[in-house]
Amino acid sequence: MRVPLGDRSYDLVFAPDFSGLQRAIAALGPGRIAVVCDTGSAAHLGSLEAEIGRHPVLVLPAGEATKTWEQGGEVLDWLIRLPLDRKAIVVALGGGMVGDLAGFCAAVALRGVRWVAVPTTLLAMVDSAVGGKTAVDHPAGKNLIGAFHQPALGWASAHTLSTLPEAERRSGLGEVVKTGLLAGEPLWGRVRHWDGDPAELFALAEACAAFKAEVVAEDEHDRGRRAHLNLGHTLGHAWERASGYALRHGEAVALGLVAETRIAVSLGLATEGLQLEIVEVLERHGLPVSPPPVSDSALLAALALDKKADGDTLVIPVLRAIGEVAICRLSPAEALSRARVGI
Ligand SMILES: NC(=O)c1ccc[n+]([C@@H]2O[C@H](COP(=O)([O-])OP(=O)(O)OC[C@H]3O[C@@H](n4cnc5c(N)ncnc54)[C@H](O)[C@@H]3O)[C@@H](O)[C@H]2O)c1
Ligand SMILES: [Zn+2]
Repeated sequence: MRVPLGDRSYDLVFAPDFSGLQRAIAALGPGRIAVVCDTGSAAHLGSLEAEIGRHPVLVLPAGEATKTWEQGGEVLDWLIRLPLDRKAIVVALGGGMVGDLAGFCAAVALRGVRWVAVPTTLLAMVDSAVGGKTAVDHPAGKNLIGAFHQPALGWASAHTLSTLPEAERRSGLGEVVKTGLLAGEPLWGRVRHWDGDPAELFALAEACAAFKAEVVAEDEHDRGRRAHLNLGHTLGHAWERASGYALRHGEAVALGLVAETRIAVSLGLATEGLQLEIVEVLERHGLPVSPPPVSDSALLAALALDKKADGDTLVIPVLRAIGEVAICRLSPAEALSRARVGI
């Protein structure tokens, strides 16, 4: 598929394996290649090198704790000493952590070099490889330091998902369900009836990425419709933070989808039937629908940190129906109490 962003447009390829990646990178024009991955995605370095040849590789420790300014400094130090020049191409082989970090380093190295996203998690294929948001975390919050820097190419390969741990796959499914809800039919029907088949999951990932690409193309810098992609994320992020990140991102999004639909029902925007349908699909796909026990004060503190807040008011996209979004403006306390109506 093409992510259409004017002179920053790029191809995002969904393929069975890496065959053809070498040619696609060569088509970007000459440039020294440097590969960044982590200890998890390194499982696919061999197949990557079999396709694109051997290049300098930096293997980072896996985990969100690596996505920091300090680690970014080390990646930049490594890149600059290679040395890299303005024509260089940074290949980010990994999940969203590697993509965000390596993409961010590519955004600032020499005022910007090209990067190729090679997402190896379901979540990265569906979400982080589309849209050009790159970032590192700060102790005060996730993704607080970052840049918009579109990749020059994206390449999602089905074979990489074969090694993905089940918990990571489930986390990615949370974003797949969210995207199905936003996109409406026919995608929602496919998500709803997905029966565990890996080939269909990869096809769903491609359809979800295409939906996100369409939204991003309309609103690259997140000033309008792109906010809809935050469905499930306001309450979801609060549980993610308040649980001390014990919940994986996609699990937290699942909880957020349930809680925010409850808000919509309590405001008379959506029906109980919609709520039940969402809970049923999440449960069938192994995602949590009841939040872990965390204190209200921790949740309110986490909600107060929401980047999408407009002053003290949270701006929450909620579902009116499958494929239809309404925007609610609520204080954190009201959002929380409405999210709990009926439980
Ligand atoms: N830029 C964006 O638009 C955007 C969107 C969503 C999420 N994100 C970011 O993405 C990150 C989460 O991404 P994630 O869920 O992919 O997590 P992740 O990158 O931390 O990967 C999860 C785990 O899976 C391992 N792994 C990766 N690929 C593997 C494979 N093929 N086989 C086996 N193990 C593999 C990793 O080593 C890691 O341990 C967060 O930092 C989040 O902020 C960014
Ligand atoms: Zn998300």
